[in-house]
Amino acid sequence: MGKTKKPKLMMHGHSDEMHTPKIALNPLLPFLKDDWRIWECAWGKGALAQYLSEDGFDVICDKENDFLAEVISNWFDCIVTNPPYSKKYEFLKRCYEINKPFALLMPLTALEGKKRGELYRRYGIQVIIPNKRINFITPSGKGSGSWFQVAWFTWGLNLPKDLMFVDLEQFSKEELSKKINQALKSKRSEKK
Ligand SMILES: C[S@@+](CC[C@H](N)C(=O)[O-])C[C@H]1O[C@@H](n2cnc3c(N)ncnc32)[C@H](O)[C@@H]1O
Repeated sequence: MGKTKKPKLMMHGHSDEMHTPKIALNPLLPFLKDDWRIWECAWGKGALAQYLSEDGFDVICDKENDFLAEVISNWFDCIVTNPPYSKKYEFLKRCYEINKPFALLMPLTALEGKKRGELYRRYGIQVIIPNKRINFITPSGKGSGSWFQVAWFTWGLNLPKDLMFVDLEQFSKEELSKKINQALKSKRSEKK
């Protein structure tokens, strides 16, 4: 059987340079604690870091850092990033090793793969799956007509379900995000 042709952007290595639009962050917001210091460890052009800051989070990032080589200290509570897609396994592995809550925006197909599967089985994974594809900001500055579906791969965020199917439009309203956050908080305090 012949190989499936890769879309042009992917062939040119641009799948590492798919910068995050605001709408992609919205479904994750209810699961991040307001007082968390968040490390955006693959800064790129700073798009995701900027939206996290605008949403009131204390965001740290080092534009020059190599996440895979950096010595980690305890100065953050959670990792949130859209990693380079050619290094999905390496980023996942590093996040699990760091042992702090994390959320990585990756193609849904990152659920596949022998090595990644071993990590998921060993440590667990919870996934937030939007109801439609997201158009990323590409190196040309234009939005891409995305050819793949992405999802937030999370660990340590205590999602109510391991697979959460969310309506992207619904979550674009900041108010609704806050309401969901409040509902989750009261659910947790009821359990105590
Ligand atoms: C898919 S882009 C996303 C950028 C940004 N996180 C965002 O959401 O807009 C991934 C970025 O990771 C950067 N990158 C690649 N390898 C890295 C590494 N080892 N450590 C940190 N960043 C890396 C690339 O320069 C690229 O800009």
